[in-house]
Amino acid sequence: MTAETGSRRVTLITGASGGIGADLARIFARNGHDLALVARSRDRLNALAAEIEATGRPRPLVFVHDLASPMSSEDLVSDLAMAGASVEILVNNAGYGLNGAALELDRAGQTGIVDLNVRSLTDLTLRLAPGIVAVRGKILNVASVAGFLPGPGMAVYYATKAFVVSFSDALGQELRGSGVTVTCLCPGFTATDFQARAGMDPKMAAAVPSMSAMAVAEDGYRGVMAGRRRVVPGLMNKFAVAILPFVPNLALLPLIQAMQMRRRS
Ligand SMILES: NC(=O)c1ccc[n+]([C@@H]2O[C@H](COP(=O)([O-])OP(=O)(O)OC[C@H]3O[C@@H](n4cnc5c(N)ncnc54)[C@H](OP(=O)(O)O)[C@@H]3O)[C@@H](O)[C@H]2O)c1
Repeated sequence: MTAETGSRRVTLITGASGGIGADLARIFARNGHDLALVARSRDRLNALAAEIEATGRPRPLVFVHDLASPMSSEDLVSDLAMAGASVEILVNNAGYGLNGAALELDRAGQTGIVDLNVRSLTDLTLRLAPGIVAVRGKILNVASVAGFLPGPGMAVYYATKAFVVSFSDALGQELRGSGVTVTCLCPGFTATDFQARAGMDPKMAAAVPSMSAMAVAEDGYRGVMAGRRRVVPGLMNKFAVAILPFVPNLALLPLIQAMQMRRRS
């Protein structure tokens, strides 16, 4: 059996063990979607699955994978097939960044960002898209406001999110008329574990105005279900994305660099 032919139709959410992904899982479950959750932290995934089951919904399938590893997509698709699940909605949410100058940060840590935010998202999408087309499902890719500008002080992360914005727009266009929509969720600063993993100073991170993961996830859910091409949660973030194309890089790049370097632990 392939993942496309399984009888249990699920919304697959990557990076569901915390932050935006966990809140997306809660919202999808609340709205009657059967779920498959993926991340590295087994205990946190199981706790979330139990929380959702306690609300009277079917217990989500839980798959533990390090999606930054090259075989993970193939292994995950095989796990789904073994569980008799087919993916109707794919939520590519797992991601991380590292704060600091590219030449000073750990090289493997930075190529790992590309592996997770770009390679894994692309591989999973290409593997699962035929099955999603067959059931006229949906794809939600989590990018960032960072996808709309270069990010000195967090260079690799910003570049990976530019890829996600571009890939989502292009794939959405290619799938027009197929019944499948591709939505790109572009949050700005959101209070999650993201900042700690990125190596940001907790005091600096706490001082930045941020949205809650739940508010971002709610916007994302509404957007994907409405088949919107792009969702930018929050007025400030919408404003930033609207004016960024008109700000010259000469002015923008030193500003972003100073902002990112100030946030470093
Ligand atoms: N927070 C923000 O300010 C912000 C802003 C814009 C965009 N975003 C984007 O939003 C998405 C979710 O981030 P978040 O803010 O919710 O951060 P988070 O709280 O750190 O959650 C990240 C999720 O990704 C999972 N993950 C990380 N590395 C993984 C790996 N190698 N394999 C599998 N799963 C992995 C984590 O689970 P495990 O650790 O258990 O694996 C966790 O479930 C990311 O794509 C991020 O780039 C965040």
